[in-house]
Amino acid sequence: MADAVPALRCSGLGLTIGGARILEDIGLEVAPGEMLGVIGPNGAGKTTLFNLISGVLRPTAGRIELDGRDVTGTGAIARARGGLGRTFQTSSVFAHLSVHENVRLAAQARLGGSLALFRRPRAGDGADHVAAERLAEVGLCEHAATLAGQLSHGDKRKLEIALLLAGRPSVILLDEPMAGLATGDVPDLVALIARVHAGQGRTVLMIEHHLDVLLGLVDRVAVLHHGRLLACDTPGAVVADPQVQAAYLGQTV
Ligand SMILES: Nc1ncnc2c1ncn2[C@@H]1O[C@H](COP(=O)(O)OP(=O)(O)OP(=O)(O)O)[C@@H](O)[C@H]1O
Ligand SMILES: [Mg+2]
Repeated sequence: MADAVPALRCSGLGLTIGGARILEDIGLEVAPGEMLGVIGPNGAGKTTLFNLISGVLRPTAGRIELDGRDVTGTGAIARARGGLGRTFQTSSVFAHLSVHENVRLAAQARLGGSLALFRRPRAGDGADHVAAERLAEVGLCEHAATLAGQLSHGDKRKLEIALLLAGRPSVILLDEPMAGLATGDVPDLVALIARVHAGQGRTVLMIEHHLDVLLGLVDRVAVLHHGRLLACDTPGAVVADPQVQAAYLGQTV
């Protein structure tokens, strides 16, 4: 692991907006195929970190590398083409399109560039095939014809992951995938995330407030606090870290 080129490397990463330091001096290396949890209290900067990594925001300091390539100056679309995929904290599906149509559009954009969205879909074309495969991967085949807006919360999350996978990402950022889910839907989604990770050796970064779920799933955990990286270590070491307990948890996990 020490010798491999990291799938993702952030060094000295910072964001200052209007004099406010949102993120400061974040140094992070994620190995290919690793799953990293990202935790921290509300407002710690977790989503902002994902916005910097995915190119939605530009950092005011530091550097971001994907697979050893410096992508700091590139935009979100270039990074997505380069293999970075993310979900958003709020849902981003087209509610009035069917589940299959949603995934097909994502696949079509990936296969043929954005103009391909204006092409007429043909049954059995490449994007159709990819969509069917992705729906099978997340277990939504039986809902292919359902309008996305009519899916249960749990199934909507699965659809969001299918949309993400249609872009064939090698590095995946998941922002609170369990948020708003009924407790009964959590194990199913956890199993899906574990499959998505293990299946093709994808690298996964996951923000999650459900620590019980997260700590059992990830290889390491990064702890953000007031825009700084407080710790980045195995779940066991992070839970035992007195600094983390005092500053973030304020109590024993
Ligand atoms: N565009 C922006 N302009 C000014 N401040 C911002 C901007 N985006 C985020 N912030 C601030 O940066 C801090 C970090 O926000 P961020 O959304 O990254 O936190 P978070 O750790 O994801 O929190 P949560 O757990 O609530 O999702 C917050 O104080 C927020 O108000
Ligand atoms: Mg957030």
